[in-house]
Amino acid sequence: MISLYHKIFTRGITIMKKTTSADHAGKARGRFSGGLGYVLAVAGSAVGLGNIWRFPYLAAKYGGGMFLLVYLILVVTFGYALIVTETALGRMTRKSPVGAFHAFGSSLPFQIGGWVNAVVPMLIVPYYCVIGGWVLKYLAEYLRGSSLKLAEDGYFTEFIASSVSVELWFILFSALVFFVILAGVKQGIERVSRVMMPLLVLLAMFVAVYSVTRPGAWEGVKYFLVPKLEDFSFMTVIAAMGQMFYSLSIAMGILYTYGSYIGKDVDIEKSTAQVEFFDTAIALLAGMMVIPAVFVFSGGDMETLKAGPSLAFITLPKIFASMEMGGLVGIAFFLMFFFAALTSAISLMETSISTFEDELKWSRPRCCMLMVLVMLLVGSASSLGYGALDFVKIFGMAFLDFFDFLTNSVMMPVAAFSTCILVIRVVGFERIAGEVERSSAFRRKKLYCFFLKYVAPICIGIILISSIANVLGIISL
Ligand code: PFF
Repeated sequence: MISLYHKIFTRGITIMKKTTSADHAGKARGRFSGGLGYVLAVAGSAVGLGNIWRFPYLAAKYGGGMFLLVYLILVVTFGYALIVTETALGRMTRKSPVGAFHAFGSSLPFQIGGWVNAVVPMLIVPYYCVIGGWVLKYLAEYLRGSSLKLAEDGYFTEFIASSVSVELWFILFSALVFFVILAGVKQGIERVSRVMMPLLVLLAMFVAVYSVTRPGAWEGVKYFLVPKLEDFSFMTVIAAMGQMFYSLSIAMGILYTYGSYIGKDVDIEKSTAQVEFFDTAIALLAGMMVIPAVFVFSGGDMETLKAGPSLAFITLPKIFASMEMGGLVGIAFFLMFFFAALTSAISLMETSISTFEDELKWSRPRCCMLMVLVMLLVGSASSLGYGALDFVKIFGMAFLDFFDFLTNSVMMPVAAFSTCILVIRVVGFERIAGEVERSSAFRRKKLYCFFLKYVAPICIGIILISSIANVLGIISL
């Protein structure tokens, strides 16, 4: 591999990069400064809305401690295998997903495999930014001292139906994402992650400690942490599997793209373990924040927790309003929620733009403009879907719910399946192992091969079938 170093100027910022023969001529590929910057950026991508509202309600609904145990096992096996694979393929080819698949073949299956991975973040980021806008609005209201107003019945439903306001918050959140993206990989993404991720941990610890020390909270902590055999069911495994996928940002091209921005000296195995630790620790802290607090508030009635997505925007504001220091806890919670949403949205946006840069060979600002167009179309449809566009339903779903279903339940399992097949049938385990071993010994190589070959394809099939069955109302997730 020929390596040569050169400096380029992007908007006055010097980015050091090492090019490889796989880079397209004359174009500088962004680069993380090293292991820590990379780990924080991937952790920033992984820790998102999924950890903070999705994990606690799924854990509460599907067996508390038992769910946690199953989830942890899946993260260190199935999740680990997929993260290592996507990162190694990204670094090996120095491309985002379409180019990475193309590097091994140009026939239709390779194109489908690459594009399905690449299109997922393009469809997710617009609606993710709509939810990011909701978070920003709540944060602003807490900062203005309106915690009681947020706790009123019907506040959230009225807000998401108020087309103009939702659209403005969506645009504001998206503008913040673009601002970071335009600053580049190291000066933008890495810098923001380095500041926001440690702050996020501190805020999460503050809210979790406050929540578990409320009188009566201990019962909730026990339910969340202690596995009981009688709480185990098939649905525990299915829900934990889906959540693992969602939470670790697998099958949406992000790990390919971020993998293409790291040097050959970054230890892929170690950084994967660190990202998994970080992501799981935040999910655990979120569980500690939410489950005991809801337990106390509802007098031990777990039905309140099963509220699902509305938990963060309807139930929690009511709980905060009933607490002393509730306004402060609300600020801490929504600030943390905002950091989590922003860093994840950045990774989704960067992956989309990187695909355009690689495939269209356009400049970064031009690719950003194309993404602005996608955001305005898909994002505005999602943001207005509960208001002005309420009358439009796709398979009975509002736009936001439909894009969420399409990406998470259909496209992501297909994307992950394509990656598994690419490695099993074309790339081969030895080349992946060779890529990992460029920086360190591949300590869990046997485990990796076993999980990628036998466990991952079966698990992915189960996720696909169960999530479609969920939408059709055959099962209830
Ligand atoms: N992993 C992030 C989260 O948990 O929120 C990012 C993400 C995952 C965004 C899945 C969107 C998505 F569908």
